[in-house]
Order: sequence, then C-alpha cells, then structure tokens
Amino acid sequence: MARLQVLVMALFISAIALDQSFVNANFYQSMYFTPGANNGSSIVGMGNDLHLVLDNKAGSRAQSTKAFLFGSIEMLIKLVPGNSAGSVTAYYLSSSGSNHDEIDYEFLGNVSGQPYIIHTNIYTQGNGSKEQQFYPWFDPTADFHNYTIHWNPTEVVWYVDSLPIRVFRNYESEGIAYPSKQGMNVYTSLWNADNWATRGGLEKINWTCSPFTAKLRQFRPRACEWKGPVSISQCASQTNPANWWTSPIYKLLGYAKLGQLKWVQDNYMIYDYCKDYKRFNGTMPPECFKPQF
Ligand SMILES: *[C@@H]1O[C@H](CO)[C@@H](O)[C@H](O)[C@H]1NC(C)=O
Ligand SMILES: *[C@@H]1O[C@H](CO)[C@@H](O)[C@H](O)[C@H]1NC(C)=O
Ligand SMILES: *[C@@H]1O[C@H](CO)[C@@H](O)[C@H](O)[C@H]1NC(C)=O
Ligand SMILES: *[C@@H]1O[C@H](CO)[C@@H](O)[C@H](O)[C@H]1NC(C)=O
Ligand SMILES: *[C@@H]1O[C@H](CO)[C@@H](O)[C@H](O)[C@H]1NC(C)=O
Ligand SMILES: *[C@@H]1O[C@H](CO)[C@@H](O)[C@H](O)[C@H]1NC(C)=O
Repeated sequence: MARLQVLVMALFISAIALDQSFVNANFYQSMYFTPGANNGSSIVGMGNDLHLVLDNKAGSRAQSTKAFLFGSIEMLIKLVPGNSAGSVTAYYLSSSGSNHDEIDYEFLGNVSGQPYIIHTNIYTQGNGSKEQQFYPWFDPTADFHNYTIHWNPTEVVWYVDSLPIRVFRNYESEGIAYPSKQGMNVYTSLWNADNWATRGGLEKINWTCSPFTAKLRQFRPRACEWKGPVSISQCASQTNPANWWTSPIYKLLGYAKLGQLKWVQDNYMIYDYCKDYKRFNGTMPPECFKPQF
C-alpha cells in the first residue's frame, strides 16, 4: 500500500477511535458533584485532579456526565491518610433504575497503621451480594495507585496497578445475569459508613481528625459511550476496529495475568462470597460453580 494510503487509513481509524472513547478526560468536562456534595470538595488545577472531602456536615459524590457500555475505566486514587476509620471511598460504575447493574471498588478506612480493605462487588440485574475483599500489598495513602475496571462482553476484571485481583465472567448463555445491556455512569464518593466499614462497625469516625480528603487523578474512560439501546450491539461489535475491548486478546486473561491474579488471591484475599456457605445456607449463587477466571 502506498504510504499516503496507510496514513489516511490510520487517520480514519483514529477518528473512529476518538468518536468512541477519549483519553485523559478532564474532570471539569467529564464529571460533576452531585447536590449536597461537601463544599470543600473540588476539581483542582487544570482539571486533572479531583478532591473529595468528608466532614461532620457532609460527604461528597461526583458522577460522570456520560454513561458507558464496555471498555476500560481508569482512575488514580490516593486514599484518606492517617486515621480514616469509619470512612469509605468508593469508585464504581452503575446504571440507574430497577434491576440495575453495578461494578464496585470500595476502600474501607482504618485507624492509623492498620490496613484498609479493598472491597469489590458486582450487581447484575439488581442482584448483588457478590463481594470479594483484599488487603492492599502497599500503603494506599502514601501515593496514587491505578484502579482500573476493565469490562467487555466476556468478563469484568478489577485491576490494581495492572495486577488483576478479580474476574467476573459472562455466563449469560447459561442463565446467569451479566452486565451487558445497560449503560453505566462512573461515580466516586467519600462518606461516613462507620456503622459497618471498619472492623464491622466497631471503629467509629474520629471527627477531631476531620476533614478527611481522598484524592483522585487522571480519570480515563477508554470506553464505549452509551447512546441508548442501539449501543447494546454497537459497543459489543467485534467488527468495529474502535472496539478494542472485543479483540481476542481481551477475551480471557493470559497465562502471565492468571499468575498475577493467583498471587493476589492467595496472599491478599480476605473474603470471597463463593466460600461463604453459611451466608447462603448452602444454596450458593450459580456462578460459584463455574470456572471463575
Ligand atoms: C455550601 O455551603 C453553603 C453554606 O453553608 C450551603 O448553603 C450550600 O448548600 C452548600 N452547598 C452544597 C452543594 O452543599
Ligand atoms: C436474583 O437472585 C435471586 C436469588 O438468588 C434469584 O432467584 C433471581 O433469579 C436472580 N435474578 C436475576 C435477574 O438473576
Ligand atoms: C492503569 O491500569 C490499566 C490496566 O492495567 C492500564 O491499561 C493503564 O495503562 C494504567 N494507567 C496508568 C496511568 O498507569
Ligand atoms: C482494620 O484493622 C484491623 C486490625 O488490624 C483489621 O482486622 C481490619 O480488617 C482492618 N480493616 C478494616 C476496614 O476493618
Ligand atoms: C481522636 O483523635 C484525637 C487526635 O488525634 C485523639 O487525641 C483522640 O484520643 C481520638 N479519640 C478517640 C476516641 O480515639
Ligand atoms: C439463610 O437463613 C437465615 C436464617 O434462617 C436467613 O435469615 C437468611 O435470609 C437466609 N439467607 C439466604 C441467602 O437465604
């Protein structure tokens, strides 16, 4: 092919890609605080940083202006330092209405020197109760870390600094609900959950340490924008080159990524709903009988 043709084609493909996804989304344009957000919460500098504040008057919540179906949603987060007991910082995707879908990261604070819990969950068609929890293998308050939700028609993968920590696979063909038909907005919030978050609610928020601040940076939704039901087939299409998330290499984790996942789960997982036989009275959710990754 002539050079010019290749160039024109490359430009054409990147134009399609830009239509479907964007890079380095500016918080000013991509997110807004929901009413009642703490007045101290703010978008900072050139719009690359967002600070959530919790004090004894209010917490804070921001949400994306756009909704998405499939792709990769990245956020760098530096959690509340010091005594964060009783506080929860959340970063999640959710559709609205009844039978909603939701994919969650929640960070449960702790007293100084004790570990946060990285709490994950997923709701499919309104059904949740699919929690897995982990201790971080690093201090999540010392620096920003990369929390990415990767979501395509075959699986959802939760990544921390590019290590997969959890997978939820699509078994829709076997009657198990999967988030594949509802666009989801991106939300982040910081709130008082001291009735359950830290040591099951034993550690309360110490308000003398208030205000509490969680810092978010470099929100990057490289994802398919939801434009209504037409997106259900468009965003899952394997023939559209802009839909990089449907490429075969993202179908299932490869050998190296599976090794990383196993390392995290063997060493840092502290709760898995699929092993909580008591809670489900022996009637385990159906996906627990399927290969999980
Ligand atoms: C910000 O604070 C002012 C004064 O306390 C209050 O009237 C207003 O409702 C607050 N705004 C939000 C978004 O909470
Ligand atoms: C939600 O969970 C309940 C209890 O496990 C089950 O009976 C129901 O079929 C589920 N609904 C969907 C849409 O998966
Ligand atoms: C964050 O992690 C995702 C998933 O591994 C990766 O694709 C992305 O490049 C990372 N972003 C940054 C800024 O490191
Ligand atoms: C807080 O620290 C205690 C004691 O080390 C630990 O049991 C708990 O899992 C930690 N995290 C939370 C969120 O409670
Ligand atoms: C709350 O924090 C203050 C300041 O660090 C400390 O003096 C006080 O003992 C703490 N209160 C409780 C109940 O731990
Ligand atoms: C399991 O049994 C307990 C006590 O009988 C009940 O409260 C609970 O709702 C049951 N859980 C499920 C998932 O059926």
